[in-house]
Amino acid sequence: MNTFILSTLLLLGAATANAKTIVAYFSHSGNTRAVAEQIQKSVGGDIFEIKTVVPYSKDYNTAVEVAKKEQQANARPELSTKVSNMEQYDTLFLGYPNWWGTIPMPLFTFLESYDFAGKVIVPFCTHGGSALGRSEDDIAKLAPKAKLLNGLAIRGGSANNAQKDITAWLKKIGILK
Ligand SMILES: Cc1cc2nc3c(=O)[nH]c(=O)nc-3n(C[C@H](O)[C@H](O)[C@H](O)COP(=O)(O)O)c2cc1C
Repeated sequence: MNTFILSTLLLLGAATANAKTIVAYFSHSGNTRAVAEQIQKSVGGDIFEIKTVVPYSKDYNTAVEVAKKEQQANARPELSTKVSNMEQYDTLFLGYPNWWGTIPMPLFTFLESYDFAGKVIVPFCTHGGSALGRSEDDIAKLAPKAKLLNGLAIRGGSANNAQKDITAWLKKIGILK
């Protein structure tokens, strides 16, 4: 084998070895966090919590009203956490609760904050009945140059006991063998 081919193969090997996964999630009451932690256990990589500068009220009805107003205003709530080097990741698992039929507005802020061209985005959500809603369409619009895999929807009440569904989904979308 000549030196050129050998060094190309070595470089390709290094690129594959360096490919990294990040599980980024936003969670108001902990359900999505529970699912994110189970996914990270299965796929490895880093885990990252998307947080807002102004936290949402712990009171459910207040949070629901604030979130509705933010959606109507197409708001971009400021985030207090930042992924320091997004370039190192090739796969982003993105977790969120379904809020008013789609991703919470802080996820709009998050998706507009980085360049996802060429990356794989894998959505997952927890919900109270609307499953993924319009969220996959909205993610596709916000990260048009990423490759979007089919998302997972887990009912909030099942979030702590979702490993079986998670494993089946990861196999279906080709992440796990
Ligand atoms: C502001 C707000 C809006 C919500 N809107 C919906 C909705 O449109 N459809 C739905 O199925 N569940 C809705 N829910 C329920 C959450 O999606 C569900 O409880 C989820 O598991 C919460 O995840 P978390 O614990 O990670 O915050 C809403 C909850 C909140 C707080």
